[in-house]
Amino acid sequence: MSKKLLLKNIDVEGIKTFEVFRKHGGYSAAEKAFKMTPDEILEEVKISGLRGRGGAGFPTGLKWSFLAKPEGVPRYLVVNADESEPGTFKDRYLMEYIPHQLIEGILISSFCLGANVSYIYIRGEYSWIPEILEYAIQEAKAHGFLGKNIKNTGYDLEIYVQRGAGAYVCGEETALLESLEGKRGNPRLKPPFPAVKGLYQCPTVVNNVETIAAIPAIISITGAEYAKMGVGRSTGTKLISACGNLNRPGVYEIDFNLSIEEFIYSEEYCGGIPKGKKLKACIPGGSSVPILPAKLLLKTANGETRLMNYESMADGGFITGTALGSGGFIVLDEDQCIVRHTMTLARFYNHESCGQCTPCREGTGWMYRILKKIEEGRGTYDDIDLLWNIQSKIDGNTICPLGDAASWPVAAAIRHFRDEFQWHINNPECLTKNYGIAEYA
Ligand code: NAI
Ligand code: SF4
Repeated sequence: MSKKLLLKNIDVEGIKTFEVFRKHGGYSAAEKAFKMTPDEILEEVKISGLRGRGGAGFPTGLKWSFLAKPEGVPRYLVVNADESEPGTFKDRYLMEYIPHQLIEGILISSFCLGANVSYIYIRGEYSWIPEILEYAIQEAKAHGFLGKNIKNTGYDLEIYVQRGAGAYVCGEETALLESLEGKRGNPRLKPPFPAVKGLYQCPTVVNNVETIAAIPAIISITGAEYAKMGVGRSTGTKLISACGNLNRPGVYEIDFNLSIEEFIYSEEYCGGIPKGKKLKACIPGGSSVPILPAKLLLKTANGETRLMNYESMADGGFITGTALGSGGFIVLDEDQCIVRHTMTLARFYNHESCGQCTPCREGTGWMYRILKKIEEGRGTYDDIDLLWNIQSKIDGNTICPLGDAASWPVAAAIRHFRDEFQWHINNPECLTKNYGIAEYA
């Protein structure tokens, strides 16, 4: 049930190889796409309603249609495989176990966009995966699906894999492009968007791994059929990487009408919380999206069942809602300390700030130090107000979303768990008994 489009063949023995992938229908979507015009492919992607799976959920067809096409200037497709958002590991799964699906997606997408060179920018920590991708690229080339005059279409494509060096900020698309160009990965001001001035100042589409891996399925079944699989503007299926206090953490392909409650508790998915503990809170879309306490997670503020889709997750805005984000689903049971958890995240964002903007550079460190003070039993009630004030000065005032991503977890933790911050100030011993979960200086 939980393997539908992207993970349909994931358990087939040898699916990593060209031969087995091909036997199971691999590259037939590319063959179909070669009989279509680029405009027809774009139309299918638009009809499918596919939205960017990296976190922002921007409509893919619309992004592709923004790609500038000046005469004589190369265009690029860059696949964002930096996947650094804490709690997110679904792209790794795709690249590691079914690499040809991504390669086929790149082939169709690049053909549609008119790109003859594409890059996969992969995070440095995934040190074993470039080899898997490079092997798959060589196999595809050996069978005529990459290189010059692919399948006698007259179309040429080369794919290169570029390793990052372990910076979270390089997952931000313009920092990624800077890094790909060999420079320090500092985010650029937008606009101009990469669709107009991207890699080497040329028009570039940057898409997440899962987004591009969904393209062969869309071409195979048609955009209209893909759209039917969803709910409203959440079309198709989504990969969720589930972790934290769960009996069955892992990567799942979900329908958008699945309830969060079923996802957490049913045996088909996460199988509930270990030792029968109570659900305390969850960050459903990677560490940057707001944490929700159990009561707002399972039901919206209006009492409706909350579903695993873009709209339902966002119901209530950031006051009583959250976001589907990258699909990094982090579950906290009743034993977890929200102050400690928030401090760990603040430390992460502080460490990863590139330092270009004052609110992010200074504010993330300041928030970490205050949270550490509260966590260690030295806090005061004024510290909670100060934290709130600092996060509000970062949000929306920086070059890239890392600043927002640092402020939102702090804001949501205070909004929903102020009493726990107060409790921690009055009771210096941390709720979290397991001190091994995060070491900090
Ligand atoms: P964004 O909303 O600024 O942009 C989304 C995409 O649409 C970008 O590719 C942008 O270039 C394009 N776009 C937007 N308006 C456009 C226009 N007018 N013309 C042309 N193109 C346009 O969001 P962004 O900064 O790309 O991503 C932020 C998200 O990334 C967050 O939601 C966060 O959850 C997620 N994230 C994911 C990570 C992961 O490991 N998967 C890591 C860190 C953050
Ligand atoms: Fe760098 Fe932070 Fe500014 Fe992003 S928000 S550009 S990470 S300082």
